Amino acid sequence: MANILFFTSIMLLSFYLTEQTKSSHDNMIANSDIKTNTLKSVENFGPNSGEEENIMMLLGTRGVEAATKSKKPYKIRNPRYVIDNQNHKEFDARKRWPQCKTIGEVYNEGNALLSWAYATTGVFADRMCIATNGSYNKHLSTEELISCSGIKASANGWVRDGLAWEYFKTHGLVSGGSIYNTNDGCQPSKIPPVCNLPTKINKRTCVDYCYGNDTIKYNHDHVKVRYYYHVKPKDIQKEVQTYGPVTAALNLYDDIFLHKSGVYTLTKNAKYVRLQYVKLIGWGVENGVDYWLLVNSWGNEWGQNGLLKIKRGKYGCAVESFVYAAVPKIK
Ligand SMILES: *[C@@H]1O[C@H](CO)[C@@H](O)[C@H](O)[C@H]1NC(C)=O
Ligand SMILES: *[C@@H]1O[C@H](CO)[C@@H](O)[C@H](O)[C@H]1NC(C)=O
Repeated sequence: MANILFFTSIMLLSFYLTEQTKSSHDNMIANSDIKTNTLKSVENFGPNSGEEENIMMLLGTRGVEAATKSKKPYKIRNPRYVIDNQNHKEFDARKRWPQCKTIGEVYNEGNALLSWAYATTGVFADRMCIATNGSYNKHLSTEELISCSGIKASANGWVRDGLAWEYFKTHGLVSGGSIYNTNDGCQPSKIPPVCNLPTKINKRTCVDYCYGNDTIKYNHDHVKVRYYYHVKPKDIQKEVQTYGPVTAALNLYDDIFLHKSGVYTLTKNAKYVRLQYVKLIGWGVENGVDYWLLVNSWGNEWGQNGLLKIKRGKYGCAVESFVYAAVPKIK
């Protein structure tokens, strides 16, 4: 029964999102040259897409567009980004873009199966800052995503690939900090990060005005992504060092709760808990072990100031398998 309900709600939501896309005149124009809207079609899509990339360059478009003939989107050379094709042994997005305050910030989801929301919103904000070289340097509203998109994680933490990104593409997101009870941006967090809140307090309502900083106009505050895509394991580093952090999801095992220092490696008898979404902001080598540098959403007290170094490849909880990113739409 629970399964049927779950799948029904996913289907209704997909239908809802499709209808939303259709009804928006703005989006119809924006999408008129992008016929392939599924993630599958963009899987082979790395920072350097070869010949098609050059064709698109000649057309003079910016960011990501669909190539007319193949209907496949390609990233093209964009003066907003410094293409970095080097093999860095170590990389930390906080050091590469020190002007972008959001990159290293750690939030607290309060054990509410919301890691998907913090990871995607965080990457979106980081990438807005990187693409604008710091002129857009704001928090984006996790609150609006959670209370207005209708997206919910299943009991094992999973959210259908790309759902949040699809929301950022069609609806966009207003500004708003993730710290409870501030006037940071249009829609800052309304719910304190506390475990097991009474349902009444935890109930979120979607509103279409700014209640944080009420001098901001809700209708003019949304920013959107132009395109979102799956990043293959071999493309993760080049993606991050040119365009900024990406979201990743890892299989969470119970030994991670005890992890304090060094590089986390899955231990033999650990029990599977669920899926956890994180922000991948870099990598390095420690005592001969290659690791990914991840920002989790369990507050600053957890792990190494809220961050986690996880072994790359085998015994790294499949962190390379579910990597997604998006290019923001800059006017
Ligand atoms: C980006 O901003 C920094 C200052 O924050 C400045 O030094 C640098 O020249 C800028 N880069 C570009 C390409 O505008
Ligand atoms: C509120 O937003 C306005 C417009 O973006 C900004 O100038 C102002 O500094 C903000 N106020 C606070 C308290 O953040």
